[in-house]
Amino acid sequence: MIRIDGDQLTRELEALAGFSDAPAPAVTRVVFSETDAKARAWFKAQCAAAGLAVREDAVGNTFARYAGSDSSLPAVATGSHIDAIPHAGRYDGTVGVLGGLEAIRAIQRAGIRPRRSIELIQFTSEEPTRFGIGCLGSRLMCGSRDAKSGTSLKDKEDRTLDEVRAAAGFAGSLETVRLARGHYAAFLELHIEQGPLLERAGIPLGLVTAIAAPATMRVTIEGEGGHAGAVLMPDRRDAFLAAAEIALAVEAAAKGTGAIDSVGTCGLCDIFPGAVNSIPSRVRMDLDIRDIDEARREKMLEQIARASDEIAARRKVKITRETLNADPPCTCDTRALAALRGAAQKHDLKFQEMVSRAYHDSLFMSRIAPTAMVFIPCRGGVSHRPDEYASPEAIAQGALVLAEALAELAA
Ligand code: GLV
Ligand code: MN
Ligand code: MN
Repeated sequence: MIRIDGDQLTRELEALAGFSDAPAPAVTRVVFSETDAKARAWFKAQCAAAGLAVREDAVGNTFARYAGSDSSLPAVATGSHIDAIPHAGRYDGTVGVLGGLEAIRAIQRAGIRPRRSIELIQFTSEEPTRFGIGCLGSRLMCGSRDAKSGTSLKDKEDRTLDEVRAAAGFAGSLETVRLARGHYAAFLELHIEQGPLLERAGIPLGLVTAIAAPATMRVTIEGEGGHAGAVLMPDRRDAFLAAAEIALAVEAAAKGTGAIDSVGTCGLCDIFPGAVNSIPSRVRMDLDIRDIDEARREKMLEQIARASDEIAARRKVKITRETLNADPPCTCDTRALAALRGAAQKHDLKFQEMVSRAYHDSLFMSRIAPTAMVFIPCRGGVSHRPDEYASPEAIAQGALVLAEALAELAA
């Protein structure tokens, strides 16, 4: 009988939330920060305490393995991320990592020695905070981002990924991060829904059939700076005003498709030189554009590009655009989904099939392994906020279904 120790899982989520650069209840844990390093060390210690064999790759993806009886077979994997965007909550990603750990311990406690090994993965930088693109670890793992272009990534301080990861103790070529298709027999990810549908329906589990296609466009605007009092309005080429118009163009593009699945956000806007009495001369903004329909997402990107050309000409500013990522959506694997469905049915837990509008490492793992996700409800659908909350019961149910499905796929 597989049983989840919900108390231990709750205590571990609490402990991990303590590694934060923001005061509680907010959690900020940016990849390769000192706080991230402490959280990683703590996490590895928990894995070691469970008797798992821990290894790390060159970008800091962490693997903790419960050895199966037949080491010649590809393992079954699960996992998620522990990095957290600025002022986030404590459940995004961590539920999948610590829930995965508890799922493996529950399998061990039940006396099950699977044929296939079960591997827990803690993916590096699922969040785009530091290097501008999300799912860095899983992207490199599946080869969607090659090692060479991975090496060229820089953070806001102009430090390269290579520099930053080396300082965090992760050396070696990024080439070695890549895993072949077939390396894993299956990959499952447990995550909070980050939306309101399960809670509204009073249903404890969501089986994710597809993940929406994300894209990030970086826009740099160069205008002309000057004195906020002395330069007259007709003479200005204010970079921020062009940026403001672009932000509105993003909204118009997303609303303009008429589809509820089209979304666009401008959540990052750096103004230079950044003084109240100085006209912005340069702005860098990152735009997040998504849709479950890739062609429609592409149309939004094109519409935003056209709008920014028009704004540049009219405002006499220079605008450059760079697509940081434009990923296809993914369809989850039928057999992996069936394992989750069977596990839910075994425990009489209701579920509904759904699409994930947020992206996850599963989006990339699906390229090298049969992949599926299970969602649990979170209060009010709130996520990427300090008041993010999932109940211990909901988390334990998710971990239970994950454990059953892992045991089934590894049998
Ligand atoms: C993941 O954090 C996302 O932005 O979807
Ligand atoms: Mn997130
Ligand atoms: Mn997440």
